[in-house]
Amino acid sequence: MTKVLIATEKPFAAAAVEGIKKTFTDAGFETILLEKYTDPTDLIKAVGDVDALIIRSDKASRQVIEAGKSLKIIVRAGAGFDNIDLVAASEKGIVAMNTPGQNSNAVAELTFGMLVFMARANFKGGSGTELKGKKLGIHAYGNVGKNVARIAKGFDMEVYVFDPFVSKETIEKDGVNVVATVEELYSNCQYISLNIPATEKTKKSINFELLAKMPKDAAVINTARKEVIDEEGLKKFFVARPDFKYISDIMPDCHAELLQFENRYYSTPKKQGAETSEANINAGFAAANQIVKFIKNGDKTFQVNK
Ligand code: 3PG
Repeated sequence: MTKVLIATEKPFAAAAVEGIKKTFTDAGFETILLEKYTDPTDLIKAVGDVDALIIRSDKASRQVIEAGKSLKIIVRAGAGFDNIDLVAASEKGIVAMNTPGQNSNAVAELTFGMLVFMARANFKGGSGTELKGKKLGIHAYGNVGKNVARIAKGFDMEVYVFDPFVSKETIEKDGVNVVATVEELYSNCQYISLNIPATEKTKKSINFELLAKMPKDAAVINTARKEVIDEEGLKKFFVARPDFKYISDIMPDCHAELLQFENRYYSTPKKQGAETSEANINAGFAAANQIVKFIKNGDKTFQVNK
């Protein structure tokens, strides 16, 4: 019998787990659940004899992949797959997939929760500012970026986008402005929404020089990955620019050092962009269906390690 392990250090909502289990029961598969584990060796032990693995931000490291003696497929229920060792997976002939777009509305909505929180003086009672009429720069126009643009228009913000991988025409169809360079985005926009994946190219790419281009009363909202920030540059910029704010959904390594800038810095304790039952249901069901289609028909749509 095909065995599927759902390994979620940060569990899915109960309704999502029920639906995923039902999908596998209907397909004649067995489901094994490993939730809220704190030690990576628990995952290494649990993956031993399963055919398929569903994870969220859980690390599918080389060790995990090598421990999965029968493993054929890993599905990251979510967008970013920087937590899967793709080289190790490919070496073992394991298919790695993500579920693009399934949790993007949840992340985009949180971006606006954070923008309003930042603009309204961290809800501490002081006078704030409005988002209407302000320039928002969307750094990367994937599924989250598109949703951020849609919501920003409802706030009457002026929206600018930089994404070298999406054509100008495609972005402009959504009624937003396109800029040709990342420098132009940061120079032009008071607020930046980071929606780039963490890749070898983007890691530490948000550095002091780029931030220094931002206009007065600048703020960066990071719902992407902490790795895209050059933290040394960020710390330096906090000192150089007392008007700058950084609100993050992924606690930076330098969190303790940034706490001194209490009204200009905030991080959620645990990444919660995709923490809605809708996002869990969408991404979890998609992952389950992708596994069933792959095991039964060899369907490799959404494979990321080709
Ligand atoms: C993603 O890449 O899909 C998001 O960062 C959400 O990650 P999570 O499922 O670990 O919350």
